[in-house]
Amino acid sequence: MKSTEIRQQFLSFFERKSHEIVPSAPLVIKNDPTLMFTNAGMNQFKDYFLGHADPKSKRLCDTQKCLRVSGKHNDLEEVGYDTYHHTMFEMLGNWSFGDYFKQEAIAWAWELLTEVYNIDKDRLYVTIFEGAKDDGLERDIDSYTAWSEFINPSRIIDGNKKDNFWEMGETGPCGPCSEIHIDIRDEKDRKAVDGATLVNKDHPQVIEVWNLVFMQFKRTSTGLLQSLPQTHVDTGMGFERLCMVLQGVQSNYDTDIFQPIIQKIATLSKKRYGVNEKEDIAMRVLADHLRAVCFSIADGQLPSNTGAGYVIRRILRRAVRYAFTFLNISDPFICQLVDELVHTMGDQFKELTSQSDLIKKVIKEEEQTFLKTLDKGIARFESLPVENGIVSGKDAFELYDTYGFPIDLTALLAQEKHNKVDVEGFQTQLELQKNRSRQATQLETDDWTELLHDEIEEFIGYDFTESTVKIVKYRTVKQKSKKFYQLVFNITPFYPEGGGQIGDSGYLTSNEERVSIVDTKKENNLIIHYCNELPKNLTCSFKAVVDIDKRLNTSNNHTSTHLLHESLRDILGDHVAQKGSLVNSEYLRFDFSHFSKVSDAELKAIEESVNAKIRANITLEEFKNIPLEKAQEMGALALFGEKYGDVVRVIKFANSLELCGGTHAPSTGQVGLFKIISESAVASGIRRIEAITAQKAFQYFEEKLDLISQVSNKLKSNDIVRAVDQIIYENQSLNKELEKMMAEKASRVKHHLLSEAIDKDGITFICSEVDLDVKSIKKIAFDLTKSQDNIFLVLGTKVQGKASLTVAISEKLSSDNKLNANTIIRELSKEINGGGGGQAFFATAGGKNPSGIQSALEKAKAII
Ligand code: SER
Repeated sequence: MKSTEIRQQFLSFFERKSHEIVPSAPLVIKNDPTLMFTNAGMNQFKDYFLGHADPKSKRLCDTQKCLRVSGKHNDLEEVGYDTYHHTMFEMLGNWSFGDYFKQEAIAWAWELLTEVYNIDKDRLYVTIFEGAKDDGLERDIDSYTAWSEFINPSRIIDGNKKDNFWEMGETGPCGPCSEIHIDIRDEKDRKAVDGATLVNKDHPQVIEVWNLVFMQFKRTSTGLLQSLPQTHVDTGMGFERLCMVLQGVQSNYDTDIFQPIIQKIATLSKKRYGVNEKEDIAMRVLADHLRAVCFSIADGQLPSNTGAGYVIRRILRRAVRYAFTFLNISDPFICQLVDELVHTMGDQFKELTSQSDLIKKVIKEEEQTFLKTLDKGIARFESLPVENGIVSGKDAFELYDTYGFPIDLTALLAQEKHNKVDVEGFQTQLELQKNRSRQATQLETDDWTELLHDEIEEFIGYDFTESTVKIVKYRTVKQKSKKFYQLVFNITPFYPEGGGQIGDSGYLTSNEERVSIVDTKKENNLIIHYCNELPKNLTCSFKAVVDIDKRLNTSNNHTSTHLLHESLRDILGDHVAQKGSLVNSEYLRFDFSHFSKVSDAELKAIEESVNAKIRANITLEEFKNIPLEKAQEMGALALFGEKYGDVVRVIKFANSLELCGGTHAPSTGQVGLFKIISESAVASGIRRIEAITAQKAFQYFEEKLDLISQVSNKLKSNDIVRAVDQIIYENQSLNKELEKMMAEKASRVKHHLLSEAIDKDGITFICSEVDLDVKSIKKIAFDLTKSQDNIFLVLGTKVQGKASLTVAISEKLSSDNKLNANTIIRELSKEINGGGGGQAFFATAGGKNPSGIQSALEKAKAII
């Protein structure tokens, strides 16, 4: 069965069981400080489990793109070495939110595996939670009873907290789980060793395929478990593993998901898969990492130096390194695999297909840059000291930190020279660095203290910038020695950072006091207000007031961003898609896909187009809470990698239509003026425009005009271009004149010097203080030493209050080793309190003491 059919059968099965099929959430998470990437199917439903929001249906199913490369779930280092771990993988899941529980989840899982996919029952084992004393949890008898209906008790295995109690992270929803394992060994091996003894023992052929999690608790920051208001089901089945089982192969990489990519790697690298273990590992790493990187870029996460972007960059670099080390590839290579991936997965994940050009360009540029770094790193490695055949841990760490060389690459390079690396020393350095960064970034977040029971925090900031609010809950956050507070209100006019727009600030005030709100952010569905001190009376009513100036300027910039986006598409073409945006009260920054520099003429046209829309004073049309399909029918622009709900908000200014949650000017006229201040490249295929609006743009023009008027005053002319041209012309003529005069003077001085030269032992000695610039002295020195082969010349001059000395010696004289300009100048320069150097035939020195020139010349005479 093809993988596409396997995926479809899963979804159809649960659709028949009254589940609604929903799309995968983006791979990159934006509104959750505890998580960078989607690492499980349940992430996008976290709020439903915690009771912070209600799902549109109590039963959902989907296939979710997951990435396990950081935090609690991190499989990166396993990838390639075994046949079933991945960074990016698909997780098939069915969900019950306060609806069915263990019994149905277990019965349906069994039905799907054994009756739809027809997996041999004798190959299946299940595990259940054995309980945990430290959490006060009993053995999961309910799951045991439910399984006993289908499977012999000898195949139901008790598992500990590590394997059978699922937690998303250090805190959050969690519960006991029951895993389904499959034994794909051949008959002979199965007879020899009982499969039950191999469950959860990292055996490559006895593996977990499906995890049924029964969400019952929430782990708080103190480590305690709290019961959730309702019980839920979260199941996750590894799609790639399932395909391996159903396609009768022994490795995920042998399925039709990976084989086309692996074969392409083999062709391009002129190797064969399955011949050499190291090369096979490299091919698996490449095939896996290609997916992680392409899907992340498609979801809007470009490789970068911070946060999620840095993780993607490191994954890509790991792939480049494996290709470089084990497949002898030193040219951009991964970019050439993108088409194959699009071919295998583009039908299910359209974001890949529509952005394949961009993905290729971004990857190619990253590869080129990193390959250069690799070269430099290798050069650095070559220059490292090796003591007693050992490269020190510190040096290995420098290679890791600066050039991205993991320890095994350094070890390999060392081994080629029959040396070793101090791996322990390297690990110590690594630990030290980890501790340093942990200390720098660690946030200690206390649990919420609830003051009021109010589940839905209403946002009224589109229509109001002030309102009466009550604090529903608050918590303390500590970072290093800093302490701040987070507040949640029952209702709020404060816009939380999102969609590129910064969060509102402002203040809370009651009869007794006034407390500043320094920022507002969103965490999942919760709007969180940041303050540096807590109000003394937490339970009274407050007036919450948004900083109106900041809000107004920010809204102007957000509206301009939409107008700019539309103008870019009009002028440059429909391929322009938003790739990043920052909107604050000072300026706007807009990143978009476009494959060449935007020319000055294009920038002018874009600016003009935006300003024309501003002057047209187009009224904002806001469509709140309309179904996503309707918004799409209207032609509203959506962003790749953005998670939209079923109902969305559309912002319309005439022909500009975007899905957007930000705040805007009521009509474009309020923006007043729009000015682009820079255009640059962010990455290959991504350009960035920065612009200012309203008062800031006006100030910009004012400053420019003021500058012109100052220049015009200085030039005493209104026609400043002509006046400046005139000055440039005069300056050039004067310079020419000056050069001519200097040359004449130098020629005179040269003749004079020659006439005063002293001949001693066949050497023509010239020694004098002259009134010439350094350039002319150098010319005289070269003229003389080149035309005669017995010149020894020492000249001194004063330049802007400082001393300068020149020593020149005909090459023949210096090569006979009689005289050396470099040695002589070092001696002479002491007299002028300075230093210098050069070569044996020409050297110069500068010094602070012009009155020492004469004594330097005397010293020179003494030499001769
Ligand atoms: N949350 C569970 C997992 O990720 C099941 O979906 O394994």
